[in-house]
Amino acid sequence: MTVGLGTGTTAYHAIRRIGELVSRGYDLRCVSTSAQTDRIAEDCGIEVVPLCDVPHIDVTIDGADEVDPELQLIKGLGGALLKEKIVAAATVLEVIVVDETKLVDKLGSRCPLPVEVVPFGHSRTAYALGKQGCEPVLRMDGDGVFVTDSGNYIYDCRFDGIASPFFLETRLNVIPGVVENGLFLNTASAVLVSRADGSVTLMER
Ligand code: A5P
Repeated sequence: MTVGLGTGTTAYHAIRRIGELVSRGYDLRCVSTSAQTDRIAEDCGIEVVPLCDVPHIDVTIDGADEVDPELQLIKGLGGALLKEKIVAAATVLEVIVVDETKLVDKLGSRCPLPVEVVPFGHSRTAYALGKQGCEPVLRMDGDGVFVTDSGNYIYDCRFDGIASPFFLETRLNVIPGVVENGLFLNTASAVLVSRADGSVTLMER
């Protein structure tokens, strides 16, 4: 079985659990979505293979920053949206794990939408992003600009709720300089929601 490993504080726990299964002899190989996840997987003794070496991924377990009632997602506050989206597109069953604070009625109402852009002319790209009705803020890492695993920058775009995520995605994807956006639409097969009382709810498409 081939398993996709997400990125973030939630995916971390899934990776540790998969590591336990591997140590018990389960025949798994994994595809990682970030350098951070590479390191955790290595610590857990999980074999990580390049995405190009597998025909598809059976199941990916990942987190999310927002989940709406239609199971549409915003991802990328952890900075790994590009590889996460490529891995999700190669995955048969995309399982998202969140706590209930990530549930929203409308995407973009709680957190900004991360948009990954190439560094060349990035302020021009940001100007075009702003024309879509948001306030783009260049993500920083201490005193420097945050750089993704793929060598790009991220603009966190604050919307006052995203009225039409599918329309916005189309608009963002035609802006020169935009590499990927954090809208994961019709991507999640299932969302597991952990509640404060310890219960878990399954949301399915
Ligand atoms: C990584 O780029 C993100 O898409 C994460 O999956 C998302 O930010 C959720 O992270 P946490 O599980 O740490 O909240």
